[in-house]
Amino acid sequence: MAVSARAFVLRHTRLRPVPGLEEIRLHLADQVLPLWHAVEAETGDPDPPLPYWAFAWAGGLALGRYLREHPEAVAGRRVFDLASGSGLCAIAALNAGATQATGVDIDVFAAAATELNARANGRRVTVLRRDVLDEEPPDADVILAGDCWYVAGLAGRVLPWLLRARDRGAHVLVGDPGRRYLPAGDLIELASYDVRTTTELEDLELKQGRVYGLRQVPAGGI
Ligand SMILES: C[S@@+](CC[C@H](N)C(=O)[O-])C[C@H]1O[C@@H](n2cnc3c(N)ncnc32)[C@H](O)[C@@H]1O
Repeated sequence: MAVSARAFVLRHTRLRPVPGLEEIRLHLADQVLPLWHAVEAETGDPDPPLPYWAFAWAGGLALGRYLREHPEAVAGRRVFDLASGSGLCAIAALNAGATQATGVDIDVFAAAATELNARANGRRVTVLRRDVLDEEPPDADVILAGDCWYVAGLAGRVLPWLLRARDRGAHVLVGDPGRRYLPAGDLIELASYDVRTTTELEDLELKQGRVYGLRQVPAGGI
């Protein structure tokens, strides 16, 4: 990981406890727009992705709460955190007893943030920075997918990949606050939490974050 990406994350965030998961501290930003402009200036990309990595998203917050309440879901298991952003879900899994955690995200700053956040929590997360959705799912025991259904392009690719992971024997857990593209018919709700986010990102500060497993047979049949 480039030192400059880590320096950028440190310069534009503050390490602080995560609302509702105070045992976890993350490098988080207060405002999205100034940070987005800073990413644009830093990278020279006129249309960079939102700095997702600088916030704990409602789906990840729900998954983190679930793992704290149900450590048996990951304890003693190898976890893969898809679209890891800040690395929140991977860190929550390690806190719950996962033996190892890998986070994958396409954003270079997400990779840097995950490394820094893991270290701030005394954890180690293996970070992959690439798009794995065209690859075979990894050899992991549990796949975590926090807040992946916010945009059509990504949403359309996540469920088929998760189903392949499930068919290879992985246990899949999804966290989501009811995003537009969530394939609710293919999921089974396991738990629901009031999660506190920020109106920088959401219409409401308090969202209902739900945790799901995959339905045995997808809604469209097999
Ligand atoms: C809304 S954030 C969720 C982050 C984290 N899971 C959480 O709940 O706080 C979505 C993340 O998906 C990442 N992402 C988008 N497309 C991706 C892809 N094809 N593979 C991996 N990550 C991707 C983005 O960079 C972003 O960090």
